[in-house]
Amino acid sequence: MDRVDIIEKGKLLIDWASKEMPVLKIIRDSFINTKPLAGLKIGACLHITSETANLVLLLRDAGAKVFLTASNPLSTNDEIVTYLKNYESIEVNSKQGETTQEYYENIKRVIENQPDLIIDDGGDLISTICTEYKTIASKVIGGCEETTTGVIRINNLYKQGKLLFPVIAVNNARTKHMFDNRYGTGQSTIDGILRATNVLLAGKTCVVAGYGWCGKGVAQKLKAMGSKVIVTEVDPIKALEAVMDGFEVKTMEEASSIADIFITVTGNIKVITDKHLKKMKDGAILANSGHFNVEIDVDYLEKTKISKRKIRENLEEYIMPDGKHFYLIAEGRLANLVAAEGHPATVMDMSFANQALCLEFFAKNKSKLKPGVYDVLTEIDKKVAYYKLSSMKIKIDELTEEQQKYLESWNLGT
Ligand code: ADE
Repeated sequence: MDRVDIIEKGKLLIDWASKEMPVLKIIRDSFINTKPLAGLKIGACLHITSETANLVLLLRDAGAKVFLTASNPLSTNDEIVTYLKNYESIEVNSKQGETTQEYYENIKRVIENQPDLIIDDGGDLISTICTEYKTIASKVIGGCEETTTGVIRINNLYKQGKLLFPVIAVNNARTKHMFDNRYGTGQSTIDGILRATNVLLAGKTCVVAGYGWCGKGVAQKLKAMGSKVIVTEVDPIKALEAVMDGFEVKTMEEASSIADIFITVTGNIKVITDKHLKKMKDGAILANSGHFNVEIDVDYLEKTKISKRKIRENLEEYIMPDGKHFYLIAEGRLANLVAAEGHPATVMDMSFANQALCLEFFAKNKSKLKPGVYDVLTEIDKKVAYYKLSSMKIKIDELTEEQQKYLESWNLGT
């Protein structure tokens, strides 16, 4: 493809996604008039997809200068980068398949532009500013964190006294995790597995490690495709929830020898290790949809393998000393974003609407918040839901005055 075709393709992808992002459109139309981010610089570390492009264009139209960098070395869509850079004056230097060194150089480039506001996905941008660029961090008005793993990291940074500006945990908004994590990760993980392998899921035994919002989504979609699903958990309450949702619950050790496909979505490290791999069947498929590539012990596969070859796009075969073959999707990085295209625009619409409204909130409330981790205001969360429902032409009932009063009282009993 020549450069003009690449740019045209980027634009088509962005326009296509925008059709499923009506909430962003409402906000963009309003921000074009009110310019709530006028004169502000935004540093954004996000998966560079057509949905992200729609967010950064909204922020640019709201008056901000946007510096964008990738939140994963493999999830960048180069056509989107080329279009944003050449036609929309968005500063972005990331590329698909960049090295870890290039990944951090690009993050640092964003920071050196001294952003006033931050959007992060995974915590790499916020943690780098707070630890390596303290002077710049002290001038940041606020940041927004997109993902479960990022919120955990930023909370830990705060607990250690190292968080230097307020951060809103966008992931904690109900209009974010109940839809993006559950339906988005659910569908896009299946999409990634299918694009990488084209295996039939019906009749396969699949292990889903982790039954948080993402794990619930993946398990639900696999069940709908006819797979037998085994859930592994460390939290007894989530394990019980999985049981009552109709899934088998086992330890990873028990499940190892039974399953055909393993999917990790825990947000933790070393969920599948040598002890599990040694028990797995020949031909087992391994995928991860947790934020970082730490859930499957890829180092062990690399160090122990007899040989390795690429079978298909985003699928590598490892031959182990005992003669078994394992098939690893997307190097153990986010299967849904590397082997597929991430969450569909319909759910990113709500996640990114929260981001845009939280940045507006920061711009209106400069220096009012101390460093710390904050939830999205309920009024923002509800506004996003109302906008989404109205875009679907769905009306809902309203509390009557009498009902509202009843909910605020205690004296009416049996
Ligand atoms: N995270 C998961 N899916 C995504 C998408 N489509 N765009 C940006 N970030 C994402």
